[in-house]
Amino acid sequence: MSADIELGRAKLDWARQHMPIHARLRALHQETQPLDGLTVGVCSHLEAKTGVLIESLAALGAEVLFTGSEPFSTQDDVVAALDEQSRIRAFARHGVDDATFETLQLELIDAGCDFILDDAAELTARLVDKRPDLAGRLLGVCEQTTTGVHRLTAMEREGLLSFPAYAVNDTPMKHYFDNVHGTGESALANLALVTNLLLAGKRVVVAGYGYCGRGVAHKAQGWGADVIVTEVDPRRALQAHMEGFTVMSMAEAAPLGDFFLTSTGNREVIREEHFAAMRDGVVIANAGHFDVEIRVADLEGLARGGSREVRPGIREYALADGRRINLVAAGRLVNLAAPTSMGHPAEVMDQTFAMQLAAALHLLEHRGALEARVHPVPDEVDRRVAEIKLETLGIAIDKMTDNQRAYLEAWQFETIKGQ
Ligand code: NAI
Repeated sequence: MSADIELGRAKLDWARQHMPIHARLRALHQETQPLDGLTVGVCSHLEAKTGVLIESLAALGAEVLFTGSEPFSTQDDVVAALDEQSRIRAFARHGVDDATFETLQLELIDAGCDFILDDAAELTARLVDKRPDLAGRLLGVCEQTTTGVHRLTAMEREGLLSFPAYAVNDTPMKHYFDNVHGTGESALANLALVTNLLLAGKRVVVAGYGYCGRGVAHKAQGWGADVIVTEVDPRRALQAHMEGFTVMSMAEAAPLGDFFLTSTGNREVIREEHFAAMRDGVVIANAGHFDVEIRVADLEGLARGGSREVRPGIREYALADGRRINLVAAGRLVNLAAPTSMGHPAEVMDQTFAMQLAAALHLLEHRGALEARVHPVPDEVDRRVAEIKLETLGIAIDKMTDNQRAYLEAWQFETIKGQ
């Protein structure tokens, strides 16, 4: 166990070195301790970058209780290295079954929290569903991913939100970078590592051309793959077409692809009729939050020849006619739940988690003025984090002159044409 803690400490140290926005935010708020007296629940993929966010919350005065948002992305060495620190308590273990995963989250909820930083609304939905009596204590929630914002919006629609929630995922500083570059790079890197196969020259089918899918598609093209995109939204499909990708339905793409990667935030995107048409040896993986994008039950039903673990993190299903279909990480997040996975690169998570932290501080400061619903994060919070990021990179940008500002705010011809 102590060897594990050493490794966890080293991982945290490496992440800290590559997360300069966090260092800056801590330094800015260390003296005032804005989270003093509050208990904050954190639910996310538990690896070193999340650890740095948890440490920042504790450094600003909070008691932090943390749990995983996907059992297979939890790294026990990092959990141990966090749990040993003062004001930080773990409710997570790697690879637990669904029942234990829920029990750990409920234990955290029962311990009581004033605020939640969430991923896919895992903890918030659990609290609202299973412990509605405790929702009254919640001052607010910050949500970091697309699926979570959808779920919070659904709760609001059903009149179940009794607290304000910030849609941190929807800020430019989060989804223009994390979803596009973070998912793009880490999903492909892990696909290559877990399979030890070449992507160059292969046909890669990307399901969903949203922020994540767009990142995956462009980066796969950069690696030399021939990329096919599938979509259900006509505008996103057109965007993919005009950005140089072949667009078709999954039924058409199924017999063509060598690799399939889903990132739709939707269920049953690859299912029985698609598996039935695929070529021998294809590799299928998912980058969307839940393990529902690929219908694994259909694959199991078709696998008359059984299945076996053909490499760590890859299950090979043998169809009746001898074709083999390889599923990565049981259809869970390929960049977080495969044996080779380490999640997004540290620099991009520095931005995402800086947005979570800055949004939490802002929400808490303005809590009396915020209605119980899902709110966009104010633009000034996003801009400030972007400014800090540029400062850490040593990049200076121009400032608008007063004349330029007046021009942008004017409608009268004299102001527009005048000096
Ligand atoms: P998005 O909403 O921008 O994009 C999803 C796209 O999928 C949309 O264009 C939609 O039209 C399309 N789509 C929906 N159903 C489809 C279907 N049946 N077939 C083909 N396309 C379909 O969402 P975003 O931000 O790209 O996120 C996608 C998923 O990835 C979410 O579950 C999100 O939580 C998750 N995510 C995963 C990350 C990771 O580390 N792997 C990081 C960030 C987000």
